[in-house]
Amino acid sequence: FAPKILQGLSLLLTAGPTREAIDPVRYISNHSSGKMGFALAKAAIEMGAKVTIVAGPVNIETPLNINRINVESTQEMLDAVMQQVHHSDIFIGCAAVCDYRVADIATDKIKKSAHEMALALVRNPDILASVAAHPQRPFTVGFAAETQDVAHYAKDKLKRKNLDMIAANDVSDPSQGFNSDTNALTVFWSHGQYELPATDKLTLARQLLTLIAQQMKTA
Ligand code: PMT
Repeated sequence: FAPKILQGLSLLLTAGPTREAIDPVRYISNHSSGKMGFALAKAAIEMGAKVTIVAGPVNIETPLNINRINVESTQEMLDAVMQQVHHSDIFIGCAAVCDYRVADIATDKIKKSAHEMALALVRNPDILASVAAHPQRPFTVGFAAETQDVAHYAKDKLKRKNLDMIAANDVSDPSQGFNSDTNALTVFWSHGQYELPATDKLTLARQLLTLIAQQMKTA
């Protein structure tokens, strides 16, 4: 039985990929399965939290007692998160959010013509940074999925996005990260770091939430 260390707290988190339409039949996305985010949601319920998960398109059943909001695009994910953020104590950005979207979504299916074609992309808003900038900001935790210089990029995101904590996920190893059943994380905060070695995602989720609860006490 997990200790109820999150009793009385509300957790808002994002999970899965976002999906950006190109035309009515095509989109840009990534390989996030939602497994890590849903493991966090399940572990947080066990630990006594009230949980809202804003999920991109994934094939996962909703664990018991969780409020689930389904979205597709990054803008939809941002809107759903910003509607919930003011009554949340903790936010975890576990979703693999598309950094760019198509500048002009075609209303009809794009037909083949030349050998090459180019898609104009524009930057998406940053959901995590928007939460961190909110006047009633919850304890804000990000993930950093990286394939090289993992610690360096994660610490840069911790500072640049003004986060309380970041979980660095080295996704160069296929057994940890996108669509795997196991994962490993290095967690950074302003004055410390902690290694969470490879294990199944639910165990890792419990360990990450325990670290978050400890850091919230000292913050
Ligand atoms: O879903 P799984 O298959 O289980 O895989 C889990 C995972 C690999 C997706 C997860 O562990 C993970 O690392 N999630 C973050 C993926 C990511 O997009 O990282 P990033 O380094 O590009 O983004 C940094 C942080 O900013 C993330 O918290 C992300 O949610 C957030 N972000 C990014 C861009 C954006 N426009 N808005 C954001 O909020």
